[in-house]
Order: sequence, then structure tokens, then C-alpha cells
Amino acid sequence: MKYLITGGAGFIGSNFIHYLVEHHPDAEIVNLDKLTYAGNLENLKAYEGDLRYTFIKGDIAEPKVVNEAMNGADVVVNFAAESHVDRSIHEPAAFVRTNVLGTQVLLDAALRHKVKRYHHVSTDEVYGSIALNSDEKWTEQSPYNPRSPYSASKAASDHLVRAYFHTYSLSATITNCANNIGPYMYPEKLFPLAITNLLEGKKIPVYGQGQHVREWLYVEDHCSAIDLILQKGKPGETYFVSPDNEPVSNLEVIKKILKLMNLPEDRIEFVADRPGHDEKYALDNNKIKRELDWKPKYSLDETVRLTVEWYKNNQEWWKKIKDSQEYKNYYQKQYDVLK
Ligand code: NAD
Ligand code: TYD
Repeated sequence: MKYLITGGAGFIGSNFIHYLVEHHPDAEIVNLDKLTYAGNLENLKAYEGDLRYTFIKGDIAEPKVVNEAMNGADVVVNFAAESHVDRSIHEPAAFVRTNVLGTQVLLDAALRHKVKRYHHVSTDEVYGSIALNSDEKWTEQSPYNPRSPYSASKAASDHLVRAYFHTYSLSATITNCANNIGPYMYPEKLFPLAITNLLEGKKIPVYGQGQHVREWLYVEDHCSAIDLILQKGKPGETYFVSPDNEPVSNLEVIKKILKLMNLPEDRIEFVADRPGHDEKYALDNNKIKRELDWKPKYSLDETVRLTVEWYKNNQEWWKKIKDSQEYKNYYQKQYDVLK
């Protein structure tokens, strides 16, 4: 089986490539990635010189390179995206180009190359925001209501995938997943930012009062869900992927991190809130469990512990990123004004 993985040098894409190599040792893998600030070939250095693996540097919004990369592919899994909400607030244009136009270019190529399956990796955020005092959970039938430039661009891409299924019968599936954590996550998102700041002796910047609520999934569980959907999922269907534990507030998970690292709560620094900050995301994961027999393997405590351990044990990986000018500029732009 030949897989085209787009965005395979980023956080979830690189974990998925590791997952494929481990679970399908005969898989042929092409990784098409633009290597934006978030793309990092260090995540995949285990496969340098491996004949089963090919890396192509290129943009999913460029038809020529996409068509070349898709040649002979049986399956396409699209992870390539601009993925950080705070950056989308500063610069929405890149989100529209990659997430919307890029998806449409991939879909056209998938039709042309008659791929057996196109899988689109999306997010819970397209469904909007649940009130903090509500126990509601979204289902695959819930209406779309994106509220950040990031989630609006991801919602547009989901709609395009659905349109290509209905209009052209493209064999497509979609996952909308909860917040992932684990190895190789760029230290701009809450978990890697918090853990690496603590390891550097700094504080954790917490937006508002830390009351916002999320679900946290270990990235390997996301990979197992996508792999299963590629094998058993029904074309045209959307599947939610989320952990079994109840959603938790940012403050609760930050306290778990501090406890694991034996650090006091005064390492929390409350800063100004994110504009339009979605209060709560919560997905009902019954469909994928019922129809495909998927189960998340990790509890919340294991998920947090494994993530803390990885950043403790891989300081060279994240220090290189944090030492880069790109990162320093971003950090200053995002956090200096919040104090
Ligand atoms: P990431 O930012 O870590 O990685 C994105 C990758 O895409 C990078 O390697 C980057 O170089 C590449 N890329 C960006 N623009 C590109 C372009 N135009 N052409 C080719 N490559 C390009 O993101 P991630 O956290 O791994 O997220 C992967 C996917 O999963 C995204 O679609 C995201 O919306 C979705 N998702 C993420 C989470 C999460 O918690 N991180 C949760 C749910 C869904
Ligand atoms: P993030 O990791 O950016 O994911 P998302 O917004 O896509 O869910 O943020 C997770 C939560 O943590 C979200 O409620 C925003 C909050 N947060 C902070 O409080 N401080 C930070 O520095 C960051 C990056 C996020």
C-alpha cells in the first residue's frame, strides 16, 4: 500500500508516520511537507535512507507538486495545515491559503489519481464553543459554528471534502479530533509551552483564569483511529476521535503538570485572554467505538505523564526550536503584550 502523507513533518503527521512504519512495515510512504516553522525533519530522522520512505518538500496549494507527489498513491492522509489558533488571530491569510485552497488542490488531485481513499484530518473546533456550565457533547450531526480564523478555515476544508464526496463520489473520510498531546508538538501550544517553560525556570502563561475546558488525547490514540478508519471506515462518513475521560479545565491540567514536575502553583501566571476564546470543546466518541470498535488506550493521567516525560527526555529537540529567531519573534509578539 502506498500512502501520501501531507504535513508529515509536523506534530501529528510525524507521529502517524511512526505509527504506520510500526504497524504496517510493508507500507510505502511519501511525505509532502512545505516545512513551515512547524515542520521538522528531525521528527523523522529514523527513516533517512529508508527505501520505504520518500520526503518531498512542497506546498499542498501548488497543483504541480501535489500531482507529482500523488503519483501511484493508494491512500492520501492530509495533516498539512496551519494549526495554531493564536497565529490565526495575527495572520489569517496563511490559514485560508493552506487549509482551504490546499485542501481543494489535494481533493482535485485525489480525483485525478483515482486514489482509493482520501482522509482529511480535522478538529473539534469547527463546531464552535460549548458554555462552561453545560454538559452538552457534540455529535457528528451537530451544526458547524467556527469562531476563530483557524477553525473557520478548517470548517471550510471539511465542507469541501464533503462536497467532493457528494458531487464527484470521491472516497473520502473525515476525523474531527480533540486536542492532541505527545512527542514532537511544537512548543507554541499549551502543553509543550507549559512544560518547556517550566524546565527553563519560567512561568506558564495562562489565558484568562484558566477556566477554559478541553479534552486531551494522547497522539498515538489519534493515529490508531485514523489507521482503523482507513481500513474499515465508510466513505462519506465523519468520525469523532476523543478520549474517554471527561473534559477538564486548563487550570486542572496545568496543576497536574506542576505536580508531576514537583513545582509550586506560583509558577502559573495569569495573562490577558485570547480574543474570542472558545470556552469548551466536548466530543461524543460513541460512533467510532460502536461502528469501528475503536478504543483510546491512554487515560488522562497517563497522557499527561507521558507527555511531560517526553519533553523532559528530549530537551535538545525543543531547545533548538526555542532558540530559533522564528520562535523568539513569535513568543515576543504573542506574550509580551499580554502581561
Ligand atoms: P503542525 O502545525 O504541528 O504541523 C503542520 C505540518 O503541516 C507542518 O509540518 C507544516 O510544515 C506542514 N504544512 C503547513 N502548511 C503546509 C502547506 N501549505 N503545504 C504542505 N505542508 C504544510 O500541526 P498538527 O498539530 O500536527 O496538526 C495536524 C492536523 O491535525 C491539522 O490539520 C490540524 O488542524 C489537525 N488537528 C490538530 C490537533 C492538535 O491538537 N494539534 C487536534 C485536532 C486536529
Ligand atoms: P492550544 O494548545 O492553543 O489549543 P486550542 O486553543 O486549539 O484548544 O490551547 C489550549 C488551551 O490552553 C486553550 O484554552 C488556550 C489555553 N492556552 C493558555 O492558557 N495559554 C497559552 O499560552 C496557550 C498557548 C494556550
